[in-house]
Amino acid sequence: MKVEFYVFSGTGNTLKIAREVGKRLSEKGWEVNVRRMEGATGEEASDDSMVGLAFTTAFFSTYPVVLDFISKLPEGKGRKIFMVTTAAGATGGSEGKFRRMVESKGYVPVGSLAAIMPSNYNNRTLPAEKNSKLIEAGLEKARSFADDLVSGKAGWRRGIPLFPSMWHWFVTSGMALPFFYRFFPIQVDRNVCIRCLRCVNNCPAGALVAEDDAPVIRPKLCQNCQRCVAFCPVHAIGVPGKPLEQYHAMSFEEFIG
Ligand SMILES: Cc1cc2nc3c(=O)[nH]c(=O)nc-3n(C[C@H](O)[C@H](O)[C@H](O)COP(=O)(O)O)c2cc1C
Repeated sequence: MKVEFYVFSGTGNTLKIAREVGKRLSEKGWEVNVRRMEGATGEEASDDSMVGLAFTTAFFSTYPVVLDFISKLPEGKGRKIFMVTTAAGATGGSEGKFRRMVESKGYVPVGSLAAIMPSNYNNRTLPAEKNSKLIEAGLEKARSFADDLVSGKAGWRRGIPLFPSMWHWFVTSGMALPFFYRFFPIQVDRNVCIRCLRCVNNCPAGALVAEDDAPVIRPKLCQNCQRCVAFCPVHAIGVPGKPLEQYHAMSFEEFIG
């Protein structure tokens, strides 16, 4: 089986889980191509490929960049599809909403996985022990999900219709992000910033731009994915008053590799 596996990850949790699913599927003989949603369209998947989607749970839904990717996927034409999400606590049943979205495009849902991973918000690398236990359990779930996909035993939750729809509406209405940003504005400390522009070059929403060689945030575009905060090498970005050194699931080199 060929699989085109599209991944969005803010700070590495989802990427870690998706890579584990991909690795296990490959070990079972499937041909898996893990690629980023950023810069992809869904057209990369051939007619005989299964499609995989992996993305962060945010606001009991996901980020607008991901919703945009899913809504622009080409017609499924009966192709099989699976989804993987990671959350710090609960998806709020959003798998059901995503199921309806892909079904309406002509895809056949074959499995969904929601893995609980460490929170990537306001979480220092400590408590490292608790974080690593969650990660181990998440990776185990990833492997058994892959096994279930191969054996045809995986299922995709239908969920409840109203609650997830409400949150999807909240995100797509354009209200969720400014609301969040208003209370947790991300700022760059120019005195600490070393002008490496890692944040500018890796922001998935184009919300960071370089002005006089230093990053400047465009709040209206920020999706709060925390990538800039988590991977800043000198901890110059973050919400004032919150820990600037934040959890990320892997090194930056692994993340972009
Ligand atoms: C803005 C924002 C919103 C979030 N919303 C939720 C949520 O609704 N439910 C939840 O369980 N976790 C939520 N989380 C936590 C993340 O889903 C979780 O840590 C995830 O594993 C991060 O994955 P990533 O590193 O691939 O982006 C949120 C995190 C952020 C930054």
